[in-house]
Amino acid sequence: MAVEFVEHLKTQWMGMIDAVEDPLVLIDANYNIRRQNRAYVEHAVNPNQLDIRQFKDKKCYEAFAGRNAPCPECKVKKAQEDGIKSAWHMRELLQGRDIEVRVSPNVDSEEQSSLTVVHYRDVTHQKALQNSLARADKLAALGKLAGGVAHEINSPLAGIMAFAQMALREMDEDNPHIEDMREIESAAQKCKVIVEGLLGFARQDAPDVTERFDLLECISSTLRLTKAILRKENIQLIVNLPENPVYIDGSSGRISQVLLNLITNSIYAMKDGGGEIELGVLPSDSQVEIKLRDSGAGIKKDILKKVFDPFFTTKPVGEGTGLGLAISYSIVTQHKGSISVESVEGVGTTFSITLPLDRRDLKTPAG
Ligand SMILES: Nc1ncnc2c1ncn2[C@@H]1O[C@H](COP(=O)(O)OP(=O)(O)O)[C@@H](O)[C@H]1O
Ligand SMILES: [Mg+2]
Repeated sequence: MAVEFVEHLKTQWMGMIDAVEDPLVLIDANYNIRRQNRAYVEHAVNPNQLDIRQFKDKKCYEAFAGRNAPCPECKVKKAQEDGIKSAWHMRELLQGRDIEVRVSPNVDSEEQSSLTVVHYRDVTHQKALQNSLARADKLAALGKLAGGVAHEINSPLAGIMAFAQMALREMDEDNPHIEDMREIESAAQKCKVIVEGLLGFARQDAPDVTERFDLLECISSTLRLTKAILRKENIQLIVNLPENPVYIDGSSGRISQVLLNLITNSIYAMKDGGGEIELGVLPSDSQVEIKLRDSGAGIKKDILKKVFDPFFTTKPVGEGTGLGLAISYSIVTQHKGSISVESVEGVGTTFSITLPLDRRDLKTPAG
C-alpha cells in the first residue's frame, strides 16, 4: 500500500513538472542529468535522439547544448560552487531566441553531490515588447521636446525668410549685399526643412485627415515621384503589386512620406554604383505587408537596433538628420501597424511594414 502510494505521488509530481512549458532540469555537480521535464527533452539539441528516460545521467552539455565538453565558463557550475541562486540571459542556446536561465543550486541537502535546478525561459517576445515600449516612451518624450522647440523657432524663422525675400525683391542685381541676402534666405530655407521634419516627427502640426484609401494608388503615385532620381542613380525598380485595390484607413500622404523616407535611404545606400530596389505588397486576411528590399550597403549588426531612434544617423553632417526612420516609425504606429528591418552588410536591407486592412468593403450594403 505504502509503495503504491509513493508511486502515485511520484506520478503526480512528474505530471506536474511535465506540465511546465519551460525546460527544467536537475543536474549534479558532475553535469549529470538526474531528472528533466518533457519540455527539456523537446528543446534539447539531443543529437542521438534519446527518449525522455534515456536522458538520465547524460551530461547536460551533451544533451542540451550538443557539445562534448562543458560550455566555456559554465555559469551553472559557478552558481553551484558559490551556492547562490543566479539568473542570466543567453542568445546562443536556442536558435538565437532570448533565453533567461535561472539556477537554484543545492536543492537537496541530503545528497552527497549537490543537486541544482536549471530553469530555461524563452523571453524573446517579452524582450521585444519591452523594447518597443521603451522606444514608444522615448519617442513620446522626444516628440514633445522637439515639437516645442520647433514651434518656438518656426515664427522667428518665418520672419527671417519673409524679410530676406522682401529685401531681395527690392535690391538691384548690382547691390553689394545681394549675395549675403541670398545666403540668409537659403540658410533660413534649410532651417525650415529641419523644423518641418521636427514638427512632422512631433506631430504637433495640423491634425491628420484620416480616410479610407487604396494603398496601391498611394504607392504608385509615390513611386512616380522617384522615377527620375532612380534612373539618374542607375537603380532598377522592381514592383510587385496585387491586382485588386488594397484599402487601408489613415493618411495617404503620411504613408507616402514613409515610403519616400525608405526609398531615399535605399538610394543613399546604393550611392556607390546603382543596384536594385524591390517593392512588394502582400495582402492577407486582416492586414497587408509592404516589403521594400534594396541591394545597398546594408546595416552593421550593432547599429541595426538604433536605426529607428530619433537623431540616429551614420551620414555626414548636412546629409542626414536621423529623423527619417523615427518619423516613419511613429507614422506606422499611428496607423496601428508595425515596421521592422532586416539587413546583411554588403548584401542589402529589407524594411517590412504591416498595416491593418480596412475591411469595410466586406460589408454588403443592405438592399
Ligand atoms: N536602406 C538602408 N540601407 C543602409 N542603411 C540604412 C538604410 N536605411 C536606414 N539606414 C541607416 O539608418 C540610419 C537612420 O536613417 P534615417 O532615420 O532615415 O536618418 P538619415 O537618413 O537622416 O540618416 C541611416 O543613417 C543609415 O545608417
Ligand atoms: Mg533617411
